Amino acid sequence: MALTSLRNTSRSNPPRLHMGCAKRACKHRKTRETGPPDSCRRMTPAMDAERRLAQNVPANSSPVHERQGMAQNWRDAELPLFAEAKRINDPERALRELAKEASACTRCPLYKNATQTVFGEGPADAALMLVGEQPGDQEDVTGRPFVGPAGKVLDRALESAGIERSAVYITNAVKHFKNEPRGKRRIHKKPDTSEIDACRWWLDNELAIVQPSVVVALGATAARSVMHKVVTINANRGRLIELPDHRRAVITVHPSYLLRLLEDRDKRREFDRLVKDLRFAADAARPS
Ligand code: URA
Repeated sequence: MALTSLRNTSRSNPPRLHMGCAKRACKHRKTRETGPPDSCRRMTPAMDAERRLAQNVPANSSPVHERQGMAQNWRDAELPLFAEAKRINDPERALRELAKEASACTRCPLYKNATQTVFGEGPADAALMLVGEQPGDQEDVTGRPFVGPAGKVLDRALESAGIERSAVYITNAVKHFKNEPRGKRRIHKKPDTSEIDACRWWLDNELAIVQPSVVVALGATAARSVMHKVVTINANRGRLIELPDHRRAVITVHPSYLLRLLEDRDKRREFDRLVKDLRFAADAARPS
């Protein structure tokens, strides 16, 4: 399998540079003599709050949610605005900016008990995005997703599926390690609905920038975040699910599920099923 072909060549529009009206690529360039239209002015957080109030937009909704109602095709929509209402047409730079903002995230209380935000990593034009639950202990310490025991399972499964990890964008539904200190240990705790929903802001922005052809939700937390509702893994796994915003998702188990199985035979069977789901997702993501 040609792994490098997991790059997304299907972006309908190259993303536009949109930082005020000062940049050459701005679509409002021609109107500069008369000044930029209101929609193009740099928006301060106070202006944004006022706009949300006037337009009845909930204060905690992400720009992606807002846009979904406005854009016929989300790929035609402009790239996200972050805290300072910047629009950036360079996906790599946009991801870097987003990661920088996420490093100071206090959208839910989980930051208080974690070492750092663990943001997604991988190519900004990846055709395949994997979404896990939340960082574990080792991810929290290193600042990288899926580097602990579950990450080792994921690496083996990706390799068996013929997918190069470096060709895939890997992230989590929740970006801080939720844990309960117990003596010297930190016990993993499942994120609750409000934490998943608060953190979806970052995932939605990652999705809007990377525009993967297929998103793989690893486990129930990721599935909830990607699908915006509770879904059962077994009834939905291993098939292509069309999402309302022209995205496609594949749901499968979380790699840590395999670590909890006791019997080798069960582990082998579930590993093969995970590999099959990943291979199916990669095939669907590859440009035809
Ligand atoms: N489990 C996850 O869901 N994500 C990680 O990054 C590590 C373990």
